[in-house]
Amino acid sequence: MLNFNYTNAAPFLAKNELAALQAQLQIADKALHDGSNLGSDFLGWVDLPTNYDQAELDTILQIAERLRKEIDCLVVIGIGGSYLGARAVHSAFAQSLTGQVKNSPELLFAGFQLSGDYMNELLHYLEGKRFAINVISKSGTTTEPAVSFRILRSLLEKQVGAEKARSLIFATTDAHKGALKQFSTDKGYQTFVVPDNVGGRFTVLTAVGLFPLAVAGIDVKKLLEGAKSMQDLCAQTKDLTNPSWAYAALRNSLYRQGKGIEILVNYDLRLNYFSEWWKQLFGESEGKFKRGIFPASVSNTTDLHSMGQFIQEGKRAMFETVLWVNKSNSSCLIPNDPDNIDGLNFLSGKELQEVNHKAMQGTAIAHADGGVPNSLLTIDSISEYDLGQMIYFFEYAVGLSGYLNAVNPFDQPGVELYKQNMYALIGKPGFEERKQELEARLAEQAE
Ligand code: PA5
Repeated sequence: MLNFNYTNAAPFLAKNELAALQAQLQIADKALHDGSNLGSDFLGWVDLPTNYDQAELDTILQIAERLRKEIDCLVVIGIGGSYLGARAVHSAFAQSLTGQVKNSPELLFAGFQLSGDYMNELLHYLEGKRFAINVISKSGTTTEPAVSFRILRSLLEKQVGAEKARSLIFATTDAHKGALKQFSTDKGYQTFVVPDNVGGRFTVLTAVGLFPLAVAGIDVKKLLEGAKSMQDLCAQTKDLTNPSWAYAALRNSLYRQGKGIEILVNYDLRLNYFSEWWKQLFGESEGKFKRGIFPASVSNTTDLHSMGQFIQEGKRAMFETVLWVNKSNSSCLIPNDPDNIDGLNFLSGKELQEVNHKAMQGTAIAHADGGVPNSLLTIDSISEYDLGQMIYFFEYAVGLSGYLNAVNPFDQPGVELYKQNMYALIGKPGFEERKQELEARLAEQAE
């Protein structure tokens, strides 16, 4: 069971402030259910673990089962919310050295950036391999995935022919509108739906995440079950004993004391992409109107030897949320060495994970002593159920937290400007005036 504890953040909290935040959380929580605050058209994620389209889930599972026998790789094309959820959960179950889940088709990702060298490597890697494509875009118009799809589709059609390619391309997009929907209908591709009322970064529990994860052999029903358990808890518990409430209250209390940076800390590199998912969830939801907590992440103990110095002694502007997994999936004992030249025999017979645990506890206290409040989020193990719980825990907390900060946690107007500039500079019709303006500025900079 997921557990959230203030641990080393408790001394930094003022009691009356928590009571005040609890009262504000009541209002925020109500709005997540009755739609009485900003972004009410995008609250579909709140009931998703119970309201999921069962017929679509059955189709996903059937197709995934078939594909698992037919392909070596599934190329998942998407960016932002149409990519990070699947990558986060997949990485948690992948073997660290290969980046893939054992005995399953590989998941390869594309469309999440624009590097030509990456694309060429991918095209080369796919040559002669049996692969399928899952192109994911809610709007159906995002440049990065659209361009990548064009390139990868062309390779697939060249390798297996247009007819066979049709049965190996799956599009996850809006039910009715957008270029990808139109294109898929014309070509006869199997489509899955991104529900209208679920914004990109909240879609991991829709076909956006579930289809690629099912192809990779991850138990998506268990993922939904875990999320449902947290949904039930959030529906029933309307006070600070609800971990999402406690987390939202803590981070906002610290933010109001001037701590503008939150670092999500893990001690298991399989969770690095989970941190990337979390960064998007919180960054896009809260960073607006010159407000918001900047989400950062570290992976320890690796980063204790890089960012550790700053966290211990640098500018005091941050707090940490430490993510700890209680049970490892395997045992790794430190051997005895009769010579003991390295002086490590005091560790003989101990689990490596026990050393990791002590490193986590010691670091958390050291950072608190250095003025960095830190709380502890624990899950039992890296299992689908636990990750489902953690996904919902964070989604619910960011909804509450955004409302506490008087922003709409479900829009992202700020991501448009880079797109306009990019379109203008690459010569998209309709952006001629902007192109002239930008080229003049670039010329000035070059002088
Ligand atoms: O959270 C969001 O809404 C964004 O990150 C989008 O998911 C991202 O921009 C991709 O958009 P789309 O799915 O429309 O291609």
